[in-house]
Amino acid sequence: MRILVTGGTGYIGSTAVEILRNKGYEISILDDCSTGHADCVPTGVRFIQGSLLNRSDIAAALQDTDAVMHFAGKSLVGESVEKPDLYHSVNVNGTRNLLDEMKIASVTKIVFSSSAATYGEPDVIPIPESASTNPTNPYGATKLGIDSMISRESKEQGISAVSLRYFNVAGALKSDRGWLAERHNPETHLIPNVLRSTQANPVKIFGNDWPTADGTCIRDYVHVIDLIDAHIKALESLAEGIHEIYNLGSGDGYSVRQVVAAASLAIGHEVPTIDSPRRAGDPAILIADINKAKVQLGWVPTRRINEMVADTLASFA
Ligand SMILES: NC(=O)c1ccc[n+]([C@@H]2O[C@H](COP(=O)([O-])OP(=O)(O)OC[C@H]3O[C@@H](n4cnc5c(N)ncnc54)[C@H](O)[C@@H]3O)[C@@H](O)[C@H]2O)c1
Repeated sequence: MRILVTGGTGYIGSTAVEILRNKGYEISILDDCSTGHADCVPTGVRFIQGSLLNRSDIAAALQDTDAVMHFAGKSLVGESVEKPDLYHSVNVNGTRNLLDEMKIASVTKIVFSSSAATYGEPDVIPIPESASTNPTNPYGATKLGIDSMISRESKEQGISAVSLRYFNVAGALKSDRGWLAERHNPETHLIPNVLRSTQANPVKIFGNDWPTADGTCIRDYVHVIDLIDAHIKALESLAEGIHEIYNLGSGDGYSVRQVVAAASLAIGHEVPTIDSPRRAGDPAILIADINKAKVQLGWVPTRRINEMVADTLASFA
């Protein structure tokens, strides 16, 4: 079975490529390397360095493909506020192009990287898939728009689809070519930033007066290896004309200070931090209800925050 991995040179996509390859899947990658890294493409993998915005690149990448895992896209919340048109173009129009080319190539299966950002400020914690969707930034709006587009496509064209709404993805995977890990620039994710914190450039804690036990925001972190395991289960679950949506998190929350404590333990000294004002649009607590994925996909995440921190730290060496 050949899988097209869009965004296969990025953080999560490259991890998917590695795990799928080790399980015996044949892989094609479509990636323009705008935030990914061509050096993580393994030998023996078909790599089309091209864009979702170029339909002939997509058509070339789809040759002999049985299913698509669609990771490619723009994913920085702050950047999406500054450049909403870019986010609409790459994420929404790019996915429209992909779905149109899939139709031409008779590829009917897709697993899509959606996001918890589709929910916005939650009215219930933990957040189930049935929660209301009110994204608070253009990035979340593009992910919600794509989920709706895929739902329509599934009803009208009979495609088999799953959207996976990730919470915070963390950790790394050791491969025979070294660690596959977060190499975002700028890095906006907490765990790598906490681990890189120095006295000269301490990690910022945005708000210490949230209505949580230690006053800092609580988020749900899922290890990238557990996340890819869910993708494979989702792929195996695809059913004709059905679009399912699943949350992927750990079902547990960790405060910023708890993440800092885990990082301090891993490094062996206190991580320097600096208290900063709250950021606009940050909800106090985001925790996934992952029961649907547990029950319907048989997926159980097993890696805890200490492992996510330790693997990220090891990937720096
Ligand atoms: N990292 C997280 O915590 C998280 C959380 C929720 C959702 N997601 C989603 O998961 C997916 C992967 O995230 P990531 O952290 O690996 O990001 P990433 O930036 O490392 O990977 C995205 C990949 O898409 C590629 N890409 C961007 N525009 C493209 C285009 N026009 N054509 C072809 N390729 C293009 C980039 O070069 C990159 O390799 C994204 O869709 C993101 O929105 C990530």
